[in-house]
Amino acid sequence: MAFWALVVGEITLECVRQTALDARQTYKGRMTVSEFEVVGKVADFEDNVGQAVPVDGRMVAVFRKGDQWYAIDDLCPHMGASLAEGHVEDHSVTCPWHAWRFCIKDGTWEDNPRVKVDSFEVKIDGDDVLVREIPKVDAKEDENED
Ligand code: FES
Repeated sequence: MAFWALVVGEITLECVRQTALDARQTYKGRMTVSEFEVVGKVADFEDNVGQAVPVDGRMVAVFRKGDQWYAIDDLCPHMGASLAEGHVEDHSVTCPWHAWRFCIKDGTWEDNPRVKVDSFEVKIDGDDVLVREIPKVDAKEDENED
């Protein structure tokens, strides 16, 4: 009896802990906010050359254009090439496999702007380059508000 009470107590505590963690990761119950992750040093990134880095379990293509920094999903939605290996011109990257072009500012597929890959926030802190996923509004929460 005491053993089962202890087990139930542990499970309850774990549920409370997980709920608190979930609450901390939401803002006003609508936006998921991820943490910035250090992906390298400023000197590691060449101007106008993409570099693929891991962020929160996925690969992200980071682009430096002087003092401006951009990051989009590294995975081309066509057949999975690394967009970081594409040719960068102005604010476009051309996929190295079949030449689909994406805006490095917001991930828009330039041949069909209704389609886009995810984009990420980049910030510089001293010598460090940090990236995080841009907060998203939870579509289910939006539907419930109507
Ligand atoms: S894999 Fe990118 S255009 Fe085909």
